[in-house]
Amino acid sequence: MMHPEQGVLLAGEESHATPAMEFSEESDGPAVLLRGLHKSFGSQIVLDGIDLTVQSGETLAVLGRSGTGKSVLLKLIIGLQKPGSGSVRIQGQEITLLPLDAMNEMRKKMGFLFQHAALYDSLTVEQNVAFPLNRHTKMTESEQGIRVKELLASVGMEADLKKMPSDLSGGMQKRVGLARALALEPAILLLDEPTAGLDPITSGEINELILKLQEEHHTASIVVTHDLHSAKTIADRLALLHEGKVLIEGTFNELEKSDNEFVSEFLKRDS
Ligand SMILES: Nc1ncnc2c1ncn2[C@@H]1O[C@H](COP(=O)(O)OP(=O)(O)OP(=O)(O)O)[C@@H](O)[C@H]1O
Ligand SMILES: [Mg+2]
Repeated sequence: MMHPEQGVLLAGEESHATPAMEFSEESDGPAVLLRGLHKSFGSQIVLDGIDLTVQSGETLAVLGRSGTGKSVLLKLIIGLQKPGSGSVRIQGQEITLLPLDAMNEMRKKMGFLFQHAALYDSLTVEQNVAFPLNRHTKMTESEQGIRVKELLASVGMEADLKKMPSDLSGGMQKRVGLARALALEPAILLLDEPTAGLDPITSGEINELILKLQEEHHTASIVVTHDLHSAKTIADRLALLHEGKVLIEGTFNELEKSDNEFVSEFLKRDS
């Protein structure tokens, strides 16, 4: 099934000017700035005042128990859901009140990997990754073909480009989703469990890829993960969500030194 939100994510009309797209490093504010973010569903309060900042070139890992609102948080950042109150600024621009066309324009700066990959079922692997290139660039078919192969090679999926998503394992779907999220060379990457269900070697490769993007292209990344080893490897800072709030934020070492009972329990259980 096609992800219901996918059409919105990939919509937008304006094309990038050249195949060699530039990474956006506008400096009118941090890559992502969240202030006082609240989100409820009916009477259920999921996020209860979240403040987070991610600068370009920085990777933030978001941790927390299942159901604490990590995926919801990413969806608020990309504008797929609206907060009850609070502010989401992308490179200095408030997005919570943007009209749809402006929001779609803003989304081109952001690569998003859904928790469940959300590939287009009726398109091959190759077509899935080419989709944003087709839509948002003026690349020729052969330029697209080269770029798609590069992207798939970067996630170790170059041999499978003719397969349909339903013929891939969960981990392979995830890697194709990641290649698609990287297609437009986004300034901001939002990754929901990029290494879940992957073997340790593939996980390591994905982590290296995220680090490389950070070093070479100054990408800002927010990575939701249950994988503490990955979080430790890739993140400059970690934020632990608990009961709607950021319970603690800091480096892995700072979290380890915390004497908060939940923090030490969380690090112990998941490591
Ligand atoms: N569209 C929605 N409508 C109603 N409730 C929702 C919606 N989206 C999320 N929720 C609720 O918000 C809470 C947080 O969900 P979320 O998916 O963000 O959790 P999570 O931290 O990503 O968990 P996991 O680690 O299992 O992926 C859950 O109780 C979920 O049921
Ligand atoms: Mg989730």
